Formats: sequence, C-alpha cells, structure tokens
Amino acid sequence: MSDRLYIFDTTLRDGEQVPGCQLNTVEKIEVAKALEELGVDVIEAGFPISSPGDFESVVEISKAVTWPTICGLTRAVKKDIEVAADALKFAKKPRIHTGIGTSYYHIHHKLNSNPDEILERAVEAVKYAKKYVEDVEFYAEDAGRSENEYLARVVEAVIKAGATVVNIPDTTGYCLPHEFGEKIKYLVDNVKNIDKAIIATHCHNDLGMATANTIAGIMNGARQAEVTINGIGERAGNTSLEEVVMTLKSRYQVLNIDTNINTTNIYRTSRMVSNLMNMPVQPNKAVVGRNAFAHSSGIHQDGVLKNRENYEIMDPKDVGINESSILLTARSGRAALKHRLELLGFELDKSKLDEVYEEFLKLADKKKEIRDDDVALLVGDATRTERRIKLEHLQVVSGKTLKPMANVTLDISGEKFDASASGNGPVDAAINAVKQIIHRQVTIDEFLVQAINHGSDDVGKVHMQIDFNGTMFHGFGANTDIITASVEAFLDGINKIPVQ
Ligand code: KIV
Ligand code: ZN
Repeated sequence: MSDRLYIFDTTLRDGEQVPGCQLNTVEKIEVAKALEELGVDVIEAGFPISSPGDFESVVEISKAVTWPTICGLTRAVKKDIEVAADALKFAKKPRIHTGIGTSYYHIHHKLNSNPDEILERAVEAVKYAKKYVEDVEFYAEDAGRSENEYLARVVEAVIKAGATVVNIPDTTGYCLPHEFGEKIKYLVDNVKNIDKAIIATHCHNDLGMATANTIAGIMNGARQAEVTINGIGERAGNTSLEEVVMTLKSRYQVLNIDTNINTTNIYRTSRMVSNLMNMPVQPNKAVVGRNAFAHSSGIHQDGVLKNRENYEIMDPKDVGINESSILLTARSGRAALKHRLELLGFELDKSKLDEVYEEFLKLADKKKEIRDDDVALLVGDATRTERRIKLEHLQVVSGKTLKPMANVTLDISGEKFDASASGNGPVDAAINAVKQIIHRQVTIDEFLVQAINHGSDDVGKVHMQIDFNGTMFHGFGANTDIITASVEAFLDGINKIPVQ
C-alpha cells in the first residue's frame, strides 16, 4: 500500500516575505483559492503578529477556503500565539505553527540563551498554543545545523507537550541530501513518541538542494513537505511544490508515495503566482519553466516526434500544459479569450473582460501569437489599482550616432507635466525626464529586462528596484516597447512611495 504525503504550502508566508512579492488581501485570497483547487492539505496564510495586513489576510483566507487546514506562524512568544489564534478564529481547521531556533548559532548568537532554556521555551509555546487549537505544529528553526541529539530531545519534549507536527527546517539550505535524510532517520529511530506526530521538512534552496533534501527527508520518514509555488521564498527560495509533487508522481514505482495534488492545476497556479507577485519564472525552471518541455535540438525533436517518452519523463498535460491551446491571435474572439483566461485561473466580470479584450486586440496587432504569459500580463494591467502618476506620452530619439533624447508627459492626479532630457541611452534619457517632473531623490538598484517568449515582436517585462531614502520599492512594467516598459516599471515603483 502506498503512503500519503501532506503538502503544506507556504507561498503566502515564506514566499510572500520576498522583497517585491507582497500581495494585498484580495490577491492572497485568489492564491489561497487556487491552492485549495490544487489540493494542498495546509495553507500557511501568514504571520499574523507581523502586520495588520497579515492578520487580516489570515482572517479572510480562513473564511474563504473550505477544506485545507489554515495555518498561522508565530515565534515562541505568548503574544504571537494569542494574535495567531485570534486571526484563525474563522478557520474550519486551524493550526498554529510555533517554534524557536535550536542550532548553536541561534541559541547562543541570536537568542542569547542556552539549550535547556530553549527547550523549556519550546515546550511552553506548544502548551500555550494548545490552549487555543488542537493542531499545533512546532518548528525547530535551523534544524539543518542543529545537533541531532539535542534536536531529538526538543522534538520528544514538544510532542509530549502536544505538538501534532514537528517541522525540521533546513533554514539556511546547508544540508547535503544524505545528511538531511540521516537527520530525519535519527529522529525516527531515537524519539520515543515520534509515532504521535508527523515529521515535516522545510528546506531552503541556498545550495540548490532544497528538493533533493526534501525527497531524502520523505524517503526517511517525513510525511509533510513544506513547499512554495515556483520555489519562491527567503533568499534562494524554498522547495518548490511542483518539483516534489512531480518527483513523487514520476518516480512512484520507487517511492510509492501519493499526494492529494491535482497535478493538472500546477501550471496555471504557477503562472497565477508569478503574475500576481511580479516574480518571473526562470525559463529552465523544472516542471513549470517555459523551456521545461521545449525540445530545441533536431535530434531531440525527431526523437520526441517518434515517441514522446524518448525525451520526456513527464507528460506536459499532467501539469496542465496543453500545447494545442497555444494559439490566440488577432482573429480570436472574446469567447476564446474568456476560455483561455478560465484555464489560467482568471474569472473576470464582463467589464474587466471587455477591458482585457480591447488590450488583447491591440497587443495581437503587434504580436503574431498571444501566449498564456501575455494574457496573464494583460489581466494584471487591467486589475491593477489606479495609479497617481501615469505615463501619458513618451517619445524617444536614439541611435548609434545620435545623443539619446526623451520627451515625457506625466499625468499626476489629473494634472499634466512635460519634460525633456538626454541620457547615455534611451532608458536613461526617459528616466531623467521623469525625474525632472517628480523631484524625488531615487536611485535604481536593480533593473531586469526579460522577454516573455521569443521573437523581436515579443513583450518585454521589466522589474525595477528603487531606493528612496534607504527603503526599497519594486516596480513592474510590460510592453512591446521596452523603453515604455522601463518607464512604466519606474513609475510603478514611484507610485508605491508614500506621499508626504
Ligand atoms: O526557514 C524556516 O526555518 C522557517 C520557519 C519559520 C519555519 O521559515
Ligand atoms: Zn523558511
């Protein structure tokens, strides 16, 4: 008989901690509903004490979803636990996720404490959380670098205190797969009451081994995997849901473990998260990257045409990629666009659909083929909240032997402002002109331009990180004209700076 692995998704907590990935409550509910449809068992909806926004999101997600467990993160601090319990009051299946660092570094250099005191605080936190909810998960932060013997003592004590799940995070992404597997096995073999709790993995990807470590943990007895869509998360990210789930599915004969995930929803959920969070998916990303099923060399193409399995270990349809549905063109009607939007997980009311359709036709005039990513970007533009500063007009002159010059008109709260400037290139000239109007001392810390698909008629996506008095603001723009996309990204970031 096969075993069952619980999927704990932390896209809305660990994933949302990534700079520039913040979502508002409405967007978080949209993601939570997609996660429910995908079939995840637990949704970590936020860290309620961290901000009023996180608190509200946990409340609203608890109301909006039906069957997954809703989890709120806390430190091993009474106030955190009280606030999390309050945020979870509408959850049908609430879980409090509390914990504390157990590695030498965390005990001595972060918490200024000692192992016995930390063990006591861990037990107290679990007992306190148990007063509010039945389901309490304990995390031993930096377990990857914690001494196994001490970790086992802590795990045994928190299970005795009532923990239903014990999370063994490789917080710093330090472990090698065999080490992490041995750590889980050590707990299985040495914690007397381990059968009273589920062991969870929570691996970070600092050395690119998050998925390998998670699979090693599962092979040694872990039965909950903590993951995010597209692997987003602190620093280099977390283990990605799609990689773990598709590894278990593709290598079922060896691993013999099932999940509840409806894999055909993976691709649309990946795209939804990427678009809402303005976080591009790298083209060669396993399972969901643009090139994950693209065969470019002649030998491979020939082999796939003879038999798909010559070069594909997964069927793209199993993750919801339906190649025959790629083509949307200027001749596609509203119904075709609506159908594609629904496949991608977007349900728009009539007026938004009309707005997106109008933009779709404009884009289709400029590009031969409209792909899923293009459609998702159009939805993002139509649903974005009204901006205070808008780009009204942009004209740029540039060329190999010309000094780049830009004329810009901005609409600021309904009033029009013009400026002209030069620069060392067309983007620099346009940004200089914008700066003359907005009078803000800002610097661009990161500027990333990426094409969606291929072809010189493609849409360019621009991500910018803007520094204003030491605070970072993130902007995004997309356009077939990359100078316009760059100015839009700059203004998107500027619009996020609070008005004094
Ligand atoms: O990486 C980590 O240790 C965490 C914990 C808070 C679970 O995210
Ligand atoms: Zn983490």
